[in-house]
Amino acid sequence: MTTAAKAAICRGHDHPFAIEDVTLDALRPDELRVRVVACGICHTDLAVRDKQLPVPLPVVLGHEGAGIVEEVGSAVTVAKPGDRVVMSFNSCGACPSCDADAPTYCYQFFPHNWSGTRADGTPTMFAGDQPINANFFGQSTFATHAIAHQRNVVKVPDIAADIPLDRLAPIGCGLMTGAGAVLNSMKVRAGLPIAVFGTGTVGMAAIMAAKIAGANPIIAVDVHDSRLQLALELGATHAFNGRDDAIGKIRELVPQGLGYAFDTTGINSIIQDAWGLLAPMGICGMVGASDPADNVVFNEAAFMGGGRRVMGILGGDSDLVTFLPELIAYHVDGKFPFERLIGYFDFDQINEAIEASESGQVVKPVLRMGAE
Ligand SMILES: NC(=O)c1ccc[n+]([C@@H]2O[C@H](COP(=O)([O-])OP(=O)(O)OC[C@H]3O[C@@H](n4cnc5c(N)ncnc54)[C@H](O)[C@@H]3O)[C@@H](O)[C@H]2O)c1
Ligand SMILES: [Zn+2]
Ligand SMILES: [Zn+2]
Repeated sequence: MTTAAKAAICRGHDHPFAIEDVTLDALRPDELRVRVVACGICHTDLAVRDKQLPVPLPVVLGHEGAGIVEEVGSAVTVAKPGDRVVMSFNSCGACPSCDADAPTYCYQFFPHNWSGTRADGTPTMFAGDQPINANFFGQSTFATHAIAHQRNVVKVPDIAADIPLDRLAPIGCGLMTGAGAVLNSMKVRAGLPIAVFGTGTVGMAAIMAAKIAGANPIIAVDVHDSRLQLALELGATHAFNGRDDAIGKIRELVPQGLGYAFDTTGINSIIQDAWGLLAPMGICGMVGASDPADNVVFNEAAFMGGGRRVMGILGGDSDLVTFLPELIAYHVDGKFPFERLIGYFDFDQINEAIEASESGQVVKPVLRMGAE
């Protein structure tokens, strides 16, 4: 059975998102149809709009969705109709990375998340009688309804029964990436210093997680003073403006060097400077989307000599089944207060929400598609 829905269609940088009538395909055995309650807007949606990622346009974006399951295919065990769920990235479940519970590095990441169709090439969504690119991150949740999959849906645990879905929506991308980078990828140790470059959603999540891990000091760097102020309220012990010799100030504060430098800006001069601040055995983690042609340069002797490491990080090395419930539990305990980052918009204000994100006015815009 097909399902009528409304979806925001992205046609590129020079066109506003347009909400139009679409039809969702009938479900396959491993798929779920979710009525979308809310969806966060992430930098990666805009990177696709701006053609920095190889996702075909026009496309229905949105990859931080939360909603209520309406129908499930015959092979779905992860949730049932009526369940409250959050959605994240999809993966194949059968490659060496998926076998090692490291699905963010799925060998089949592209066909399952960015091809615009199901991994087998069939469309999940139609505009009129024509297929339209969708299945973005296995969901395309800038829409009232979405087809998701057994591997990218997590049922909201009972401990979070009172937390509204429009708050939980963004947990499946930027928040998970920043927190996972600290807790899973770099495995930040208590008592060691960390600096976080860029305090958007990913950097703020990293700062909250660094506090959970007991890092000290926790240094935030950004070019917006309002974001630095919020970073201090969320766990940073020091905050430096990147326009005002932040690197020199960090060197002065931590003369022995940083245990961890985490870059979310994707600016290669910042990554190089951050790497230069590492103590022996220090780790420089990077997540920022940068120009595919960019290179970073490290001194070979310093790289080897101190056992320093550079780590590319996708999705915070999150195994959704275990890590999203862990983060939700931190939130319920008040240790991961990401609600401080959110600004809400109605679905039909999607272009205003994007503008608020790009101007820096709102750290994490969340669109509301319907009541819970
Ligand atoms: N690797 C992954 O799995 C993954 C997942 C989610 C997002 N991302 C990427 O991570 C990056 C961060 O995402 P976000 O949602 O937090 O984005 P964001 O734009 O909200 O945050 C970036 C921050 O960097 C700051 N910044 C810009 N120039 C700076 C400078 N010169 N010095 C210091 N700070 C500076 C900005 O003011 C902003 O606060 C994006 O590139 C996004 O595409 C990667
Ligand atoms: Zn895989
Ligand atoms: Zn994202």
